[in-house]
Amino acid sequence: MVGSRRIAKALEALALLALTAGISQAQSGAVRPCDPATPLGPSHDLYCIELVPAPGVAGVSGRVELAIPPGPFTVAVTADGHSRCIPVAFLTGLPATKGGTYVAWAATPQMDSLIRLGEVKNGRVTLRPIDFDKFNFLISSERSARVREPHGRIVLRGQSPSTRPFPPDLLEFSLGAARSGDAMDHGEHGKSGWPMVPSPRGVTMLPSEMALRPEVTPFLPPMDEPLPKADSHEVLRPEDGEIIDLDAELVRRTINGQTYTMYSYNGQYPGPLIEVSRGSEIMVRFTNHLADATSIHWHGIRLENAFDGVDEVSDAFTYMLRFPDAGIFWYHPHIREDIQQALGLYGNILVRQPGAKIPANREQILMLQDLLVGDPDLIPFGRESPTHALMGRFGNVFLVNGQPGYRLSVRRGEVVRFYLTNASSARTLNLSFPGARMKVVATDAGPFEREAWVESVVLAPAERYVLDVRFDRAGAVPLVNQVRGLDHLFGRFFPLVDTLGVVTASRDPVRRDLGARFATLRRNRATTRTLEPYRRFVDKAPDQTLVLTLQTHGLPFVTERLMQLDSIYFAPVEWAGTMPMMNWASTGEQVRWVLKDPATGLENMDIAWHFHRGDPVKIRLVNERRAFHGMQHPIHLHGQRFLVLAVNGVPNADLAWKDTVLVPAGGVVDILLDTANPGNWMLHCHIAEHLSAGMMMQFTVN
Ligand code: C2O
Ligand code: CU
Repeated sequence: MVGSRRIAKALEALALLALTAGISQAQSGAVRPCDPATPLGPSHDLYCIELVPAPGVAGVSGRVELAIPPGPFTVAVTADGHSRCIPVAFLTGLPATKGGTYVAWAATPQMDSLIRLGEVKNGRVTLRPIDFDKFNFLISSERSARVREPHGRIVLRGQSPSTRPFPPDLLEFSLGAARSGDAMDHGEHGKSGWPMVPSPRGVTMLPSEMALRPEVTPFLPPMDEPLPKADSHEVLRPEDGEIIDLDAELVRRTINGQTYTMYSYNGQYPGPLIEVSRGSEIMVRFTNHLADATSIHWHGIRLENAFDGVDEVSDAFTYMLRFPDAGIFWYHPHIREDIQQALGLYGNILVRQPGAKIPANREQILMLQDLLVGDPDLIPFGRESPTHALMGRFGNVFLVNGQPGYRLSVRRGEVVRFYLTNASSARTLNLSFPGARMKVVATDAGPFEREAWVESVVLAPAERYVLDVRFDRAGAVPLVNQVRGLDHLFGRFFPLVDTLGVVTASRDPVRRDLGARFATLRRNRATTRTLEPYRRFVDKAPDQTLVLTLQTHGLPFVTERLMQLDSIYFAPVEWAGTMPMMNWASTGEQVRWVLKDPATGLENMDIAWHFHRGDPVKIRLVNERRAFHGMQHPIHLHGQRFLVLAVNGVPNADLAWKDTVLVPAGGVVDILLDTANPGNWMLHCHIAEHLSAGMMMQFTVN
């Protein structure tokens, strides 16, 4: 544990450095959360605290920007799931004190935990990171900067936005209970045949919520016909010019002792792992044996436009794939992902750099998914339109490569390279191996310029991260997803811990010890070289802005009403499905997720941006705070690669090529798009239900 504390310290120091560097580096078109002059900036309400002077204190004012610490992820969170921010204080009017000073503090609302954030003065001061669920921010006048707790007078104070959700008053409760009859009526409008959804741990629901049902027809693949049993996946290693076959077909799968009818590629879970060399070209002969049309989209691969896989395939199609980038990619259908991908249609593509040496003792390529199962069958999907259209469909069984309870045995001291892909419909994961050191090496389309130690990996739907993990002690180390849930009704955060698997290290030491190499953070010169031509575009003003928001109509009264309570605070990431009934019952007919171009007023598929091939484009993604239900969106662009330049105005000091980026609630993310691949492409949210509920647009490169 000492090790992990040291890592945390080092991270903190790095974050502070990068942040200060970022602030002093004047960036044209940069945004700051506490700058009210930026209309399409980060949410003032979520990322800024206005400080209030204590009674009797005059002429002093200030605000605190809650900056997202820079790092390999666009969301900062501790291994156990607490949001982390770096407070940056902007203060004016603090009177000079004779020999004394001012000190900033953060304390939990119950005052059971207090941290000293540092000395402050008039002007801007960057303070120590805070990772409390809710906190009060205080500035006290002290005789010495070295005090360990506040002794002097409090001069300014404020509260984190996360303190806002309180248990609602009795009126809201009686409303929830009394209107249940009304909700029942809506239930009758809902189609029959829906089972009850299992309710997540730690969440309180009202009777009126419990009565909600989706107003679409329940759909599951047929259970009656005899079907082959699915197998775990094989590895296909096609050479340059070779042809492989993929078939989408029904299979029977047994998960935790329960048997389901699901979809598969080649009868396998996940689909075959396709391993190829960078620069090669292959053909994929695809046959669809399903009753519904489907397609295969080759996520992240900069292939020829005609083979992007967004068009329906009812019987057969041959895809030609070329692989210009080394990295970990994946494939999945692009028709009703909320059904087809969730039922098992996904697989990885590992593109290797010829001749590259991997500094690890072994590799593990893991696809992660959360499946929503009821009793005895899966929870059905919406036939006409997706259920769970608000927050997306969160599952209750975690699968690693299609099965629960991932197991790996290693020797003590082994370095394992993990390639992680999140194939979930909606869930963002916060993964760690408590007790083992972990470093991030690469992401979607290639390595970072510099490797980085991390406490955990934030993995949004469709994102990939490559990690090296060393298991230096004999014994078991779990792979866990640790997040904070939010009980909206009682306004309280609670821990959620899911164990996805266990790695067991034996007593015998590994033969080839890579410990020394592992201990150093390396630079990747190849990445740095590919970035050189793009550096001069980093500071330009955005060429395009896209606002992420939603519209609703005809939602049940109880949903409308209760969601208003929820809107007083949005967590940067909705880690768990904590409003299960309202979310489940919302369909694509009532909820329309929207991409809006503020320059033209156009929305979703009416937007058609035109870019010149070879002219990099800076795009600002603005996640609107005032929306009915603000939440994170993993935004994916087809056919190209991009750099994540800044989050809420804080520049990213360690770049890597990506194809999917998580935009936190109320946040602003700037990306630089490499417009190298001609064609007509899609940009969309990768939460399957958001995509099915409209959240997509197109752009042309020529
Ligand atoms: Cu992986 Cu258009 O998606
Ligand atoms: Cu979304």
